[in-house]
Amino acid sequence: MLLFGGDYNPEQWDEPTWAEDVALMHEARVNTATVGVFSWSWIEPSEGRYRFDWLDATLERLHRAGVSVILATPTASPPPWFSLAHPDALPVRADGTRLVHGSRDTYCAAAPSYRQAAVRVATKLAERYAGHPALAMWHVHNEYGTRCWCDHAAAAFRSWLQQRYGAAQPGLDELNQAWGTAFWGQRYGDWEEVLPPRATQWLANPSQTLDFQRFWSSELLSAYVDQRDAIRARTPGIPVTTNFMLPDDPVLDLWEWGRAVDVVAIDHYPSSRDSGAYDQIALAGDLARSLNQGRPWLVMEQAASTTVEDHGTVHRPPGRTLLDALAYIAHGSDSALFFQWRASRAGAEMFHSAMVPHAGADTRIFREMTNIGHALEEMSEVSGSTLDADVAIVFDFASWWALEARRVLPAQMRYLDSVRADHRAVTLAGHLCDFVPPDGDLSRYKLVIVSSTYVLSGDAAQKMHQYVQDGGCMIVSYLSGVVGSSGAVGLGGYPAVLRSLLGVRVEEFHPLSPGQIVPLFGGGSGSLWSERLTATDADIVDRYATGDLAGNPAITRRSAGKGCAWYISTRLCDERNELLVRDALAAAGVRPVVAKLGPAVHSLLRRDGAGGSWQFWLNYGATSVRLPAGGYDLLRRRLVPPGVELGPGEAAVVRQDAAR
Ligand code: GLA
Repeated sequence: MLLFGGDYNPEQWDEPTWAEDVALMHEARVNTATVGVFSWSWIEPSEGRYRFDWLDATLERLHRAGVSVILATPTASPPPWFSLAHPDALPVRADGTRLVHGSRDTYCAAAPSYRQAAVRVATKLAERYAGHPALAMWHVHNEYGTRCWCDHAAAAFRSWLQQRYGAAQPGLDELNQAWGTAFWGQRYGDWEEVLPPRATQWLANPSQTLDFQRFWSSELLSAYVDQRDAIRARTPGIPVTTNFMLPDDPVLDLWEWGRAVDVVAIDHYPSSRDSGAYDQIALAGDLARSLNQGRPWLVMEQAASTTVEDHGTVHRPPGRTLLDALAYIAHGSDSALFFQWRASRAGAEMFHSAMVPHAGADTRIFREMTNIGHALEEMSEVSGSTLDADVAIVFDFASWWALEARRVLPAQMRYLDSVRADHRAVTLAGHLCDFVPPDGDLSRYKLVIVSSTYVLSGDAAQKMHQYVQDGGCMIVSYLSGVVGSSGAVGLGGYPAVLRSLLGVRVEEFHPLSPGQIVPLFGGGSGSLWSERLTATDADIVDRYATGDLAGNPAITRRSAGKGCAWYISTRLCDERNELLVRDALAAAGVRPVVAKLGPAVHSLLRRDGAGGSWQFWLNYGATSVRLPAGGYDLLRRRLVPPGVELGPGEAAVVRQDAAR
């Protein structure tokens, strides 16, 4: 079954609306509702006093209506009484400002009182609903990602550092060494002197900041694990997860988190309305699938339509929501779940789109939702099937954190821009792309792209060497491998740990000014970044044509063992990057699953399962295309011959083997 439904918040509504909700859910073929995400003050109206009557009734009602429940723990929104009783658990910013309640996420996850209260309420819920027939899954907390700089955070940070470096004096010496505290006389003589990177006079220490980011990912993970384990003990067999958000400012190392959840679930809101939305969906989907080790994953929350919020309006044209929902499924999702079922009448997100808008059920949006519900019902055989990729891009949260640590490198250096460009190049060439951590198993891929992976350990680099020796093809781009795990530079020329693999030695950085373009002899150009490098043991593929680096190598290629490795020392324009990726795909002997029908028609995806294989065709373009292959189309519910027309905004999900 493909899960279809969304966040359901009956505490915002009255009885007649609850009755209408179940009738409309039935009409739209909703089979799943996420309940209780922010309901702490309803479940525990005062400390230690619990009220489950409304939640009991909700679960009963949904169960009778055939709707399964993903039950949330409400710990992302502590009640106001909690803040008054435990003011030390309110979060503090880097500048020392203590925040107050009145929104959500007003807690420090390192504060003992918060952690205890969170596990307590999660435990109560698990005890109450263990064995309930509606309970299908647990949704712990909501979008973990809140950091804090308070004294509790400082103490927890020190413990985490002591675990990493060793608690005794040699550990502190090691920390001093790793953070390079000899610079600006920052040497720590006692553990108590070590603080979070709070607001300070001038630039913060980037290695301290990097460790603080790692610490928070791990501290939040332990907060999740506290709840998960309490729940698992009481409801064994019910999967437990939390919803990951792919934000601009990442807080979690999702590789670690992916291993801690029973199924990876993401919230995703593309910021673009054109076919750029597909690029964002494809990247998020490929990452979610990879985080879930290739197994089907879940979209826990997406928007039902146009969303008006303080940080901007994201338009969705009519029909787009179905196409987007199918795109996630094409990339391996087994759900289309939305935030939220019914648009709130009040509150900070009252103009966020919902499955049932303020205008009610007699609306385009609800009709589209009903359409999606029916489509997913027709497609249920797809659930559980998987996808195979020959290409992978290295994705690294530490590199993201460290590259964007304020003022270390130019502010235009955005890690995700580099990953996005490479992912788009692979996708446009008609290939499915996985993501892998830098020290992950590369052996199953024919081509691996190391996209500006700034932080690289010696071990990870060694695995990359081996991968190429054994016949893999690899593209490495600018700024990769410049620093090691601690954030300190590898000496002797960048990228120290990859120099021998790539056969290059980078002597000097030449950052380019915003808007500055450097043409290459072989066509296309670079921007943002360039490097003075020597090809010590590599062929020069292309050179800079003008500027300070005129005549110097820009792109190199080295054959090593049975494989080969390219190095790109600038941010290539899209056309040139796409060309290079296509060359590398050809060298690696990777063929697309199906021929592309133009840049806006996405058809690379084929989910395979025991029951067959399904080709997804998604037309994000403005013109009609003809499908090259035929089969049973689950959306049209009939056999379609090759050559059938797919209009703009239309989709087909074609079962490829035996007709039904
Ligand atoms: C995420 C959150 C929801 C809501 C939406 C708004 O999905 O989990 O609570 O804030 O974003 O887009």
